[in-house]
Amino acid sequence: MKRMRVAVIGGGHLGQIHARLLKANADVQLVAICDPQPLVQQKVIQQFDLRAVGDARKIIDEFDAAVVATPTTLHHEISRDLLIAGKHLLIEKPVTSTFAEGLDLLTLARTHGNVVQVGHVERFNPAIQTALGRIGTPRFIESQRLSGFTFRSTDIGVVQDLMIHDIDLVQWIFNGFPSEVRAVGLSVFGQNEDLAQARLEFPCGAVASLTASRCSYQPARRMNIFGTHGFASVDMTAGKVQVVEVPSWIRGREFDFFSLSSEQQAFIREKLFTEVLPKTELPIEPANAIELEQRDWLQAIATGESPAVPLTSGVAAVRTAESIREQAMAHGWMNKEPQMQGVFATPATRFDRQVDPLPAILQAPQRKVA
Ligand SMILES: NC(=O)c1ccc[n+]([C@@H]2O[C@H](COP(=O)([O-])OP(=O)(O)OC[C@H]3O[C@@H](n4cnc5c(N)ncnc54)[C@H](O)[C@@H]3O)[C@@H](O)[C@H]2O)c1
Repeated sequence: MKRMRVAVIGGGHLGQIHARLLKANADVQLVAICDPQPLVQQKVIQQFDLRAVGDARKIIDEFDAAVVATPTTLHHEISRDLLIAGKHLLIEKPVTSTFAEGLDLLTLARTHGNVVQVGHVERFNPAIQTALGRIGTPRFIESQRLSGFTFRSTDIGVVQDLMIHDIDLVQWIFNGFPSEVRAVGLSVFGQNEDLAQARLEFPCGAVASLTASRCSYQPARRMNIFGTHGFASVDMTAGKVQVVEVPSWIRGREFDFFSLSSEQQAFIREKLFTEVLPKTELPIEPANAIELEQRDWLQAIATGESPAVPLTSGVAAVRTAESIREQAMAHGWMNKEPQMQGVFATPATRFDRQVDPLPAILQAPQRKVA
């Protein structure tokens, strides 16, 4: 079989991870890493024994597909040229800085028939997949995604940088887009928010409460999922899942807990998470989620099927991120005079809390990861 010729655009933190995995993939010929920084180019030549090129357009005829791992504000401009040139793309998250840019890429990809995967890598996290199989229909989700300040991705705020992973996950899990968004945020260092909290309500009634910070003294990537049949607590960093599966005799309210004697109540209190609502830690097979993501994308190119995280999902996540940011910017801190608003003490701008109906172009059905 002919190997897929792939270029990596952007040789920073994520670009190097992609390059390492692509180089080890026997189905891929990694052609070059494209990055304008001389120091990065030197590193690529030494560590990867690969060609380093400043501008991908110089070698446009030498690859069939590319991973775009540049700063987010460049994703649109770079991906645009590549789509028009007929390249299949894996674009890192967030797919674009704005919803309008995302829609533009969507139109181009439809016109030119490119296969585009977006780097919402948590979809491939086996811990999430395992948790979802054990709790019935998810109804309420709370997530925390916290990191220290890395000085990377400062071209965007924490909603697009970190929370976007959880936005994509909840939109996928609840199979829809929020109809109502509330949010607050705070900026610590620069021109964008560094902390944010959002409450998303979905048309089916499901609710997600998302917290993200990139100036936290304790890193964490956690998600608690409450479903019709139980609860799962997922530690996405450690790849650990604890579940509480609620037995049918409790779900069916087969007897009245409140008529129990005090001894029986004491027994239940003591045995609550061992016998009544048994808590179990589930075994998780370790997996490299970025490698699975790349393989899914290459498979989609080979078969012409939709990748697990199509461009529509990436653009929809950007749209929700924009709504969250708008809400955070519009939030009024009422106890100060003059009134402070948004993630800074900026002049007031009003935003409607209701989200506009989703454009039809984003309503394509989504495939679950196998
Ligand atoms: N999937 C994930 O979990 C994850 C994690 C971190 C970052 N990201 C995303 O990956 C992207 C890159 O982030 P990073 O942390 O690797 O950033 P980084 O700053 O480490 O690397 C970006 C690289 O792009 C290069 N670059 C700038 N302009 C370019 C151009 N015109 N052509 C080619 N290269 C160019 C820079 O020189 C730099 O080396 C961002 O969109 C970020 O949001 C995703």
